[in-house]
Amino acid sequence: MLKKLDTRIRLALIYGSGREGRFCDKVAGWAVSQVEGDGPFELAIIDPGTLELPPRHVGSGHPALEEARQVIDWADGFIVVTPEYNRAYPAILKFLIDSIGPEWRGKPVGFVSYGGISGGLRAVEQLRLVFGELHAAPIRDGVAFSDAWNRFDSEGTLIDADRAEQAMATMLAQLHWWASALRNARQTVPYGQFAPA
Ligand SMILES: Cc1cc2nc3c(=O)[nH]c(=O)nc-3n(C[C@H](O)[C@H](O)[C@H](O)COP(=O)(O)O)c2cc1C
Repeated sequence: MLKKLDTRIRLALIYGSGREGRFCDKVAGWAVSQVEGDGPFELAIIDPGTLELPPRHVGSGHPALEEARQVIDWADGFIVVTPEYNRAYPAILKFLIDSIGPEWRGKPVGFVSYGGISGGLRAVEQLRLVFGELHAAPIRDGVAFSDAWNRFDSEGTLIDADRAEQAMATMLAQLHWWASALRNARQTVPYGQFAPA
């Protein structure tokens, strides 16, 4: 029988929307409940909506970014919960991604997306390119909510949850495998202590 890895993995869940009144809270709330119910994960949240990010300080040592950088450095892997804005992902998410450097390297990234008919998948396709550039490892399977505003009730409870729960479990299993495999590997050349790529 094949063995399942049980290494304890540190996950950071990143909100993609910082918009007031955002739908992201419902989707991210559901994703958090799935991670907490799933397995050997420690979870931290990065919410650009609460970070008071400085608009012109990409790459600086601003305290809000330093806080995010520390969590990204701590994490073994990430879940990005993103909507789709004009066929892409929100600018605040790009700002956060670009403001952090080598701390992304050698770590897997899973996606939970939402939107209209596309379920946010066009945003995710772009994020795959971005995280590839950062030497991170985008996970193949993910969760996408099309017509998202009709999928959750007013309390934020997901309606007809079975398929999404299965998709999330698949994604978490892959994320866990990659994070376990890469945790020691990224301590070596060319990634150890951010060795030059
Ligand atoms: C500027 C803007 C552009 C949008 N563009 C798209 C789009 O291209 N595709 C889509 O499915 N939904 C689009 N939407 C609808 C969003 O998916 C929807 O408003 C969602 O709730 C946004 O997530 P948020 O509320 O967490 O910010 C757009 C919304 C905004 C505000």
